[in-house]
Amino acid sequence: MVEHLLLSELDAVLRQAQDELAQAGDSEALESWRVSYMGRRGHLTLLLRQVGSLPEEERRTVGAGVNQAKDTLEQLLSERQNSLREAEASRWLEEGSIDVTLPGRPLSVGRLHPTTQIVREICDAFVSMGFDIAEGPEVEWESYNFDALNIPRDHPARDMWDTLWVDWTDPTDQGRRMLMRTHTSPMQARIMESTQPPVRVLVPGKCYRYEAADATHEWHFYQVEGLAVDKGITFADLKGTLYEFARRMFGAERRVRFSCNYYPFVEPGADMAIDCFACKGDGCRICKNTGWIEIMGSGMVHPRVLEGVGYDPEVYTGFAFGMGPERIAMLKYGIEDIRLFYSNDVRFLRQF
Ligand code: FA5
Repeated sequence: MVEHLLLSELDAVLRQAQDELAQAGDSEALESWRVSYMGRRGHLTLLLRQVGSLPEEERRTVGAGVNQAKDTLEQLLSERQNSLREAEASRWLEEGSIDVTLPGRPLSVGRLHPTTQIVREICDAFVSMGFDIAEGPEVEWESYNFDALNIPRDHPARDMWDTLWVDWTDPTDQGRRMLMRTHTSPMQARIMESTQPPVRVLVPGKCYRYEAADATHEWHFYQVEGLAVDKGITFADLKGTLYEFARRMFGAERRVRFSCNYYPFVEPGADMAIDCFACKGDGCRICKNTGWIEIMGSGMVHPRVLEGVGYDPEVYTGFAFGMGPERIAMLKYGIEDIRLFYSNDVRFLRQF
């Protein structure tokens, strides 16, 4: 029977392989042994190929035999490799060609990227004030990135965010469009849609904008969004929370300033600045001689945004804020160019 022929051929191959392996005295010989039995044209591989053409009932027994032989050879090879290695090491030791008293090569220890460090520091500050952490998609629906935030299609406010659109055709013909999120604010709507108040959540994550990079702008960067919604939340809560954050992040003696700014999804909207820690408010290069450094946008969640997610704005109010951690790291560590963060230069990264 063919089956017997193959199996006895296999036996012969196994015996020959074992004899030859015992003769192989260095790693080169081991490799050529491996190729000759288990390589693409090796004895065992050729046998295995023949198994495919056997009738079904013979294929199973013969196939199992060949596979078992392969396992045996692999096992023998690894044992032989180990014993050769050990023999070689003890020969080196005897000949004195290894100096075991030499110190080992130092391992280079990695560390967290400065953005990750700052994001974690920001998160810690808010977690200790009772905020949860959530994350959301970087490829986002236009409706969450804009419409749900009171920025309808063709509204001039969209010009505030240079958008990278995803090339995608809506198969359902509803005209839905996808984009790389331009900010973390779409998570406001996503979170409120799926939760009932009270909400207190922080959203760190990556954002993308169609911008030319310069010393303070990247086309991809991080933001940390904050959202708090409940009965009776006022602008005083917003100020108190962000003031506490600034003290924790930049030092207990920090002063903060709120100035009006327009964001379509908050009303009123405000930018928060801290007094310049470099010049203590006198005016210098870092604060562009104003004595203040803006660190985030914020405001009271717009009633239309609350309505859009099914919250009654007569019952619930809330505040939201969004900041750029790279810009905060730049201020904190005196980094002059945001492009350094993502140029993969270890000389820069090693400093943090
Ligand atoms: C926003 O993106 C609003 N979503 C923030 C917000 C949230 C306001 C909630 C009110 C309520 P803005 O475009 O200003 O706002 O960006 C916020 C922060 O992201 C900036 O202060 C800056 O720190 C950072 N940022 C914006 N664009 C870039 C960029 N190209 N490179 C690096 N950081 C950027």
